[in-house]
Amino acid sequence: MKTTLDFLKMKESGEKITMVTAYDYPSAKAAEEAGTDMILVGDSLGMVVLGYDSTVPVTIEDMVHHAKAVRRGAPDTFVVVDMPFMTYHLSREETLKAAARIMQESGADAVKLEGAKGVITMIEALVDSGIPVMAHLGLTPQSAGVLGGFKVQAKTAEQGKQLMADAISCEEAGAFSIVLECIPQQITERVSEQCHIPTVGIGAGVQADGQVLVYHDLIGYGEHRVPKFVKKYTDVYPEIVKAIKNYHDEVKNKEFPSPAHSFNLKEEERIALYG
Ligand code: KIV
Ligand code: NA
Repeated sequence: MKTTLDFLKMKESGEKITMVTAYDYPSAKAAEEAGTDMILVGDSLGMVVLGYDSTVPVTIEDMVHHAKAVRRGAPDTFVVVDMPFMTYHLSREETLKAAARIMQESGADAVKLEGAKGVITMIEALVDSGIPVMAHLGLTPQSAGVLGGFKVQAKTAEQGKQLMADAISCEEAGAFSIVLECIPQQITERVSEQCHIPTVGIGAGVQADGQVLVYHDLIGYGEHRVPKFVKKYTDVYPEIVKAIKNYHDEVKNKEFPSPAHSFNLKEEERIALYG
């Protein structure tokens, strides 16, 4: 399994880091088999798996439940788990307890927190307690309400400079990496140059030190709210619907199950059954 030190070395050598989200055993297994460097159990699970409109309703129980399955599916991949909405704001103690639960109950390798202001001290407390932390700047979906929706962030030089300062604060607080979501690529370039720790972009351009995509978006798995920055590498949803429709039709037509999918009594038992 790669470690936080490996990710740092990858940045130094210019090797891009790949990350994909996973939420259960088969998605984690597929991500690991594909050789992904890191897996994120994102709280995007609230939207793509649980069908909520935002990540706000996701609980720590949800995260632990899904992260455990991911751990079982990808025992040899570095797994980062999102701390859900409002679990790292109330106090240092609440934050440490929440992160400890995620680490101990799910077997995660790191946690991820959104934002800088007010969160830097929490990053510091977590790292001081031995928990690797990934930061997350730019579009921070847990504050979509405050940001006025899911929109591109840091669209001015001034906002870009603020983001750069935030990124440096995250690095100084001990974060091992920073997700940059939905920002102009020129800002990504500057942040990635300024930081020693790797940036992992989503909708942030090729200049990030790595990339992350949401599993369901990447494979076209039933997610209809797909942002501009997503590239669908395949489109499995129509195939799934087609397969289920075929099954439905074959059952109605008595084509399924065929003899090949059925079990038989031995001849003498069959005779005894009727005799
Ligand atoms: O929850 C998530 O999937 C994320 C990624 C978009 C970075 O936080
Ligand atoms: Na997230």
